Amino acid sequence: MGMFDLTGHVALVTGAGQNAGAGIARALARQGAAVAVNDLRPERAEETCAEIEKAGGRAVPVPFDVTDIDAVRAEVARAADALDGTVDILVNNAGIPADMGYGPFRDIAPERWRGPVEINLFGAMNCVHAVLPGMREAGWGRVVQISSGAGRTGLAIGVSLYGAGKSGVEGFIRHVSQEEAKAGITANTLALGLMQSAGGPGIDRIAEGIPVGRLGRPEDVGAAVAFLASSEASWLTGQTVDLNGGSHTR
Ligand SMILES: NC(=O)c1ccc[n+]([C@@H]2O[C@H](COP(=O)([O-])OP(=O)(O)OC[C@H]3O[C@@H](n4cnc5c(N)ncnc54)[C@H](O)[C@@H]3O)[C@@H](O)[C@H]2O)c1
Repeated sequence: MGMFDLTGHVALVTGAGQNAGAGIARALARQGAAVAVNDLRPERAEETCAEIEKAGGRAVPVPFDVTDIDAVRAEVARAADALDGTVDILVNNAGIPADMGYGPFRDIAPERWRGPVEINLFGAMNCVHAVLPGMREAGWGRVVQISSGAGRTGLAIGVSLYGAGKSGVEGFIRHVSQEEAKAGITANTLALGLMQSAGGPGIDRIAEGIPVGRLGRPEDVGAAVAFLASSEASWLTGQTVDLNGGSHTR
């Protein structure tokens, strides 16, 4: 295949039943990885698997809630079994909770604080903890964390809790990258700008304000993850990469 060949690797992509996650799963499968497609909603995971198989790739649905550590452990083991390997590529993409806790922080009741932090921070920790032993044994691993501009920049758009979860997991990933670097495991974060799927009023105006002139597509995210997951990217670790059409440069 040439560069960025993932043949022989097993990837787990969380929240991969639609949009960015589905784009990631399709891209990794196209590069030759066998893909465990996670989603909270089983029918969504099955749909992404069907797309991958139709395109000639290999995938199995692994529906579970990333915030449930027991389910994560059991399903990571089942995915490895079903795909005849070890999960050596993990993409933590699930990050939109049922209740985003939108609004100015001053107006949000404490019982709503945990949801956005739980999925983004503890959900990612659960998955990383479940896959690290196998990666260490293999002497090769890739962890790609999907984050957001909201994890890097303060914004007065009512997403402080989501931002807290995203910033928290970015810091966590930086530490994991240092702890696991000698074991052949890289860990990086991709901070996405606004995606096409976000929709809503005023979205065209927002798209015009992006230097590249458009919103993000699942394929944009898939291509970046395929690179970060490749063997060629072994010298890239501990970084947060902005993927946002030039919306922020730093
Ligand atoms: N959409 C955007 O504009 C945007 C911008 C920046 C960053 N992001 C990030 O990109 C990632 C994907 O975003 P998206 O808009 O494609 O999401 P989405 O909501 O369209 O899809 C995510 C999928 O995750 C699943 N899911 C939800 N909770 C889950 C859980 N606890 N366990 C397992 N699966 C679960 C959902 O069923 C859904 O199918 C997220 O981490 C998000 O924070 C999105």
